Amino acid sequence: MPRPARQKNPPFARPKKPRGDHRARQPAHEYVLEVLPGLEAVAAEELRTVPLARDIRGLRFWYPGDPERLTRLRAPVAVYRARAWDVPRPRGLLGHQQLGELTAFLEGVVRFGGHRSFRLAAAGRESSVMQRLADELSSALKLPYDPEDGELLIRLRPQEDGPGWEVLARLTPRPLSARAWRVCNMGGGLNATIAYAMHKLAGQRDEDRIFNPMSGSGTLLVERALLGPYDAMVGVDLNPEAVECARANLHAAKREVEVAQVDALHTGLPPRSFDLIVSDLPWGDAVGTHGGNAALYPAFLTEMHRLLSRQGRLVVLTHEIKLFERILSEQDRWHAHELFQVYSGGHHPKAYLLSKR
Ligand SMILES: C[S@@+](CC[C@H](N)C(=O)[O-])C[C@H]1O[C@@H](n2cnc3c(N)ncnc32)[C@H](O)[C@@H]1O
Repeated sequence: MPRPARQKNPPFARPKKPRGDHRARQPAHEYVLEVLPGLEAVAAEELRTVPLARDIRGLRFWYPGDPERLTRLRAPVAVYRARAWDVPRPRGLLGHQQLGELTAFLEGVVRFGGHRSFRLAAAGRESSVMQRLADELSSALKLPYDPEDGELLIRLRPQEDGPGWEVLARLTPRPLSARAWRVCNMGGGLNATIAYAMHKLAGQRDEDRIFNPMSGSGTLLVERALLGPYDAMVGVDLNPEAVECARANLHAAKREVEVAQVDALHTGLPPRSFDLIVSDLPWGDAVGTHGGNAALYPAFLTEMHRLLSRQGRLVVLTHEIKLFERILSEQDRWHAHELFQVYSGGHHPKAYLLSKR
């Protein structure tokens, strides 16, 4: 039998008196969230769940806690630590004092994130001032400058509410949207922050029986599985590679969700099997064709009407906006309203929430 681990404090030892509020002793830093345009409100809502975040102005805030908590945010693409310098031009950052402060600021971020290289993002990145700044920072931080793939992304921009320049340093070597669970990627794979937003706006209920037709690489499945309890969840896709890909991602996320190679329009499931159906339909470019979608979309709505419970919710994301809105306008079985339109990777899909009339 293994020996019980030694307790650090014997059971009757007098607890040590806390010396003041430990929160007050941690330095607060200012942070800024980067989000896909269109998802600002979802990210702001999530930010309100961070206990120590204060002085929140949109997506900017002060935070004295462990930055690790911020890297667990799911709606933003990235989180940056921010600091402004009272200099009229970036050249001013090369001054002895400013460069020392800037180095200390960036060292704090690297200490947390373990970045192995850096890059600068600023207007005039090729200018001689930026080149000098890159050289100075490279020797001060002892990090190689990699203008394309540098892990520590440093953004320089004029201050929004002051005369100086602001420096933003991304906390994590990779964006937060590049989830650790994504071990398999497919063309047409959804940005995970969009999947998170769809689920948050669809409403999260423990008793939901959830269906994800056309699940592709499983982004919507994984993001929902990570959010918390549900009654049941299943995904289907016609493409066997997509099914394998979704399974691999779910496995990496340590979540058990069934994914099957089945036609979403012919599942053979009884009526009203689901309370929430969430789908990222073929957009007609990377996946599917415009002609095919003209037939697929109405058939999809008919079958989902059959599979959804009376009070159920259907959430659809599509880039075939004209087609989808025309089909909606020609039917009277669904109430529909737009949840958001998001700009991502050159696309601007819309998400809709539908309920049965
Ligand atoms: C836009 S992709 C979904 C991408 C997915 N959200 C992801 O993150 O990877 C659409 C998917 O629909 C699937 N599909 C198209 N018609 C289908 C059908 N009738 N039944 C099941 N899957 C279908 C395609 O194979 C494709 O994987």
